[in-house]
Parts: sequence; structure tokens; C-alpha cells
Amino acid sequence: MKNRILTGITTSGTPHLGNYFGAIKPSLELAKKSSDSFFFLADYHSIIKVNNPQEVTSSIENIALAWLSSGLDTKNSYFYKQSDIREILELSWVLHCVTAKGLMNRAHAYKALKENNSDDKGVNMGLFSYPILMSADILMFNSTHVPVGPDQLQHLEMTRDIALRFNHIFGDTFEIPEAVINNDDPIPGIDGRKMSKSYNNVIPLLCDEKTLKKSIMKIVTNSLEPGVPKDHTNCNVFSLYMNFASDQEIEEFKDDYANGISWGDAKNKLFDKANETLLPIREKYFDLREQKDLVNDHLSDGAKKVRPLAREFIEVIRSKIGIS
Ligand code: TRP
Repeated sequence: MKNRILTGITTSGTPHLGNYFGAIKPSLELAKKSSDSFFFLADYHSIIKVNNPQEVTSSIENIALAWLSSGLDTKNSYFYKQSDIREILELSWVLHCVTAKGLMNRAHAYKALKENNSDDKGVNMGLFSYPILMSADILMFNSTHVPVGPDQLQHLEMTRDIALRFNHIFGDTFEIPEAVINNDDPIPGIDGRKMSKSYNNVIPLLCDEKTLKKSIMKIVTNSLEPGVPKDHTNCNVFSLYMNFASDQEIEEFKDDYANGISWGDAKNKLFDKANETLLPIREKYFDLREQKDLVNDHLSDGAKKVRPLAREFIEVIRSKIGIS
């Protein structure tokens, strides 16, 4: 069966371990088993929350470098910036017009901000209809599988609803995509909540060794003394370690916990393992970052490959709705 995967990362902030383990790594693995793969930078999604142009620009560059340093092969995939494919915005409007407002009222991201806030303070229309732009990203390329973190599952359900609705009204047009959940448990940040720029609890992906160590040392633990057996379940240090280590190493680390490893030693073990894994990515990043124009060249090549597909499909969509 032909399967086409597609996924994007919102370009806000610097790439962190949550992006790597939650999106980049599993998507690149899935790409090896797929017929086609589309990876993009969701820059129009970022302006919902970020109003600082420099921050948007530098985040686009850094998230692009994160994909490239982690091994994305631009020859065998489509790698592009959402904003370069203008037809996505055109499709987004068309989809707005078949989406029930009630469906958007139920979106978690909106509901969270709306709580105890009857005036919708701090909610812009971009946030409210965020899932529709995301649907346009996905439906524009008839992707069959969308690797995402568990927090995006609702958006995928909405995308399916919207696609079914359009197909029902205008006839079969869109593929109904399936979510592929990358990592059932969200990657914890240094304070134990989901690693996220909004919580200011991230461990950066593309940093030097010293910064990595400093971030790991800041991970919140409890006050159990060295020598006292520790519970590895619900432990941030342990959960992070699991992402880097082999099954055998994880078993050994469990024993260390049972034997009362100190928090300092546990964090050092995590650091050594993380550093070993991240070293090749970091080296590639330091190298690519020096190559002026590299990111722009990749993205403009990507746009050249992707845009004709979008142009052709938007014509089909326009003729279905009676605008051609
Ligand atoms: N909403 C996603 C996130 O914040 C990013 C995203 C935008 C996306 N469009 C997408 C992911 C389409 C998958 C498919 O993580």
C-alpha cells in the first residue's frame, strides 16, 4: 500500500529534546518504511503565539537545522516551509467554511485558555481555528499517516471530521489520514511537566556539552539521600534516560535506583548517555550552521518540489466548490 507520511513542527523557540524524541526521531524512522515523506516548518502556526519577528526567523532556522542535523535526507523527502506554499492558506479558508464552530469550541488548546475567561481574553482567531490550518497542512498533500505526539491526537480527529464533511458535501476529494502516535508518554521537562517552551522547562537539542550538563543538573528530584532506595517510576531523570538507553542499560539503571544511587550520580549517568547520543547531531549542527544559505537553499528547493503538487490539487478543490 502506498503510504505518505507528513508532519510539522511549529517554529517557536529553540528545538528541544521533546521535539527530537516526540517528533523528529520517530518521524525519520517511519519515513524509512514509507513511500513518501513530507516534513515541514509550521511557521504560520507560530505567529499565533509569537509576535517577535526575529524570534520567528531564528526559530525557523533552528528547527530546520534540527531536522537536517538529525538526519533528514532532503533528496528522498519533501522538506519545506508552510508559508512558502500559499495554497495551504487558500485551502485553510475553504476548510473554515465546512467546519462547524462547535467543533472548534471543543479544541483543547482553546478550551484551556477559555477556562475562567468568559471574554476569551488572550484568544486570537488564529488560536481558535488552529486545527483548521493544521487540517489544511495535512489534507493538501493527501497524507495517509501523520506522526504526532499524543497532545495532537484531537487535532487529527478534527482533521478527519473536516475531511469527511468536505467529501460528503462535494464528493470524494481528500484522503482520510490516520494519526501515528510517536511516544505515548510525553517527554518530561526539567520540572516534570511535559517538556514545552511554554513551561520554560526544556533541555535544548542543539547545545554544547556544558549547557546540556547544566540543564540536566537542574532536573527536579526529591530530597532522598544517597544510599536510600529510590523509586524509578514517576522519576524525571529515569524517564529521560529511557529515551537514550538500551533495554539492558535501563534494567541496570533500575538496579541502581533500588541500590540507592545518589541524585548527582543518576544525573551524571543520564548526562553521559544523552551526550553520547547527541554528539553526532551536535557536530553536524555546528558544521551546517556555518554554511550560510544552506537552510534557505534546502527550503527553496523544497518549495519548488512541493508547490506544483499544491497548485494542481487546489485547482481540483476550487472546481469542486464551483470556483475555477
Ligand atoms: N500542531 C503541531 C504541533 O504544535 C504542529 C503542526 C502544524 C503539525 N501542522 C501540522 C503536525 C500538521 C502534524 C501535521 O506540534
